[in-house]
Amino acid sequence: MSHEITRRDFLKAGAVGLAATSVLGSVGSMNVFAEGNKKQQAGIPFEGKKKFAGIGSCREVTEDVIYVGVSDRRIQLFENVYPIPRGVAYNSYVLLDEKNVLFDTVDRSVTGQFFENLTAVLDGKKLDYLVVNHMEPDHSSAISEVLVRYPEAKVVCTKAASVILNQFFACDISGRSVIVGEGDTLKVGKHTLTFVMAPMVHWPEVMMTYDNVSGILFSADAFGSFGALNGNLFADEVNFEEDWLPDARRYYCNIVGKYGKQVQSVLAKAGGVDIKILCSTHGPVWRKNLGWILNKYSLWSSYTPEDKAVMIVYGSVYGGTESAANAVAAKISQSGVSDVAVYDVSKTHVSELISEAFRCSHIVLASITYNMGIFTPMKNFLLDLEAHNLQNRCFSFIENGSWSPVSGKQMKEIIDRLEGSRVAGKTVTIKSSPSSKDSGALTELATAVSESVLGKSQPEEKAEAAASKKWVCTICGYVYEGDKLPEDYKCPLCGAGVNAFKEA
Ligand code: FEO
Repeated sequence: MSHEITRRDFLKAGAVGLAATSVLGSVGSMNVFAEGNKKQQAGIPFEGKKKFAGIGSCREVTEDVIYVGVSDRRIQLFENVYPIPRGVAYNSYVLLDEKNVLFDTVDRSVTGQFFENLTAVLDGKKLDYLVVNHMEPDHSSAISEVLVRYPEAKVVCTKAASVILNQFFACDISGRSVIVGEGDTLKVGKHTLTFVMAPMVHWPEVMMTYDNVSGILFSADAFGSFGALNGNLFADEVNFEEDWLPDARRYYCNIVGKYGKQVQSVLAKAGGVDIKILCSTHGPVWRKNLGWILNKYSLWSSYTPEDKAVMIVYGSVYGGTESAANAVAAKISQSGVSDVAVYDVSKTHVSELISEAFRCSHIVLASITYNMGIFTPMKNFLLDLEAHNLQNRCFSFIENGSWSPVSGKQMKEIIDRLEGSRVAGKTVTIKSSPSSKDSGALTELATAVSESVLGKSQPEEKAEAAASKKWVCTICGYVYEGDKLPEDYKCPLCGAGVNAFKEA
């Protein structure tokens, strides 16, 4: 049997499957295939409803694309970082045609159910190809066993995937691999698969695969979500907006959020293609209302707030900073902004905070001063925001310090590094706990935030310069604020002279 792989320009193709192709011929030491659909133009009848009902978690996506993925409800932390109380699904799909194709595998924790599903769906038929859209181990842990169980199967993947696969699993696929690049196609019978490179969505080796018959885009991690599937495979079978959106957002922002530019690039390619179904490696399959989830991805990947909303995050030890945060929340709400949410940075997992920061247009940060810096959990959150490349948000600050409040200045220094960050209002400084003398400043801050949310004022372009300079006593930590440190100044706490002061 002869095989061939073809290459086409995915962008210019418009609707994949319609454009002419040019034959590239063999790849590496082997040829890739297109023999086949002479025998059976009508495709292979799928008997899934009759034969596989009740087998594991199998479900038909279309008449010849079968879901064989598995959900894990035991796992506590995804990537050993993110709490997932609702579990997670590792999605895998089989395409039955003249050549049978498996798209991605599953995490090692669920291989038992996976092979039960795969065996039932193949039902004694050969597996010809394993398409590896994403080789992160939550999708590739079962590859070695697939290759042992199905000795005729070839691995279709990017060059980078083959290298990383070998690094992780000492799995040398050089004799069984088909290396593909942008726009390459593989005919497997009536279906033709087109490979679309998607580097850094979420790893560098990622690609997506488009099936011209079903209009399915096998999208790797894109359009995925945390959460186990409960028999309902399709997003239209659940109340996605109410029950799944928070986990879908948290998944995107934390896993792929840093790579907005790369996601935008793939969305631009997808714009010219007739996609009917989105099959991600996690979470429900999208076959209806695709525009809704595509719009969410457009917002998230362009760092555009989803909602005109205020997120107030506080780091507090003895309650003073919390009290100030609550006061500002009440005043903002009273000004007519209904979407206000307050979070204790010490008690809220940082992945929830990152997700909420991607949703909200305005973020108020309130932190105590701790070890002459930002309260550690708050600093961790802000550095995580920076790591996830959050952009285009409006920030406001409350700092607390019983003797040397410096957290506001230091929070601003981090926020200043975020592209498109702006500031509403002047930083409020409280000493230990808010008192009646702070009420005016807190009200002013709340007014500035609410007017910005409601479009009544424009926030400053960047974090405002500190109102005055600060010098820190290196003996006791006391902070002097002013334009200039007086030459005869003595620290009111420890009595040290000017030589003990350092500019903060
Ligand atoms: Fe689900 Fe990037 O792996």
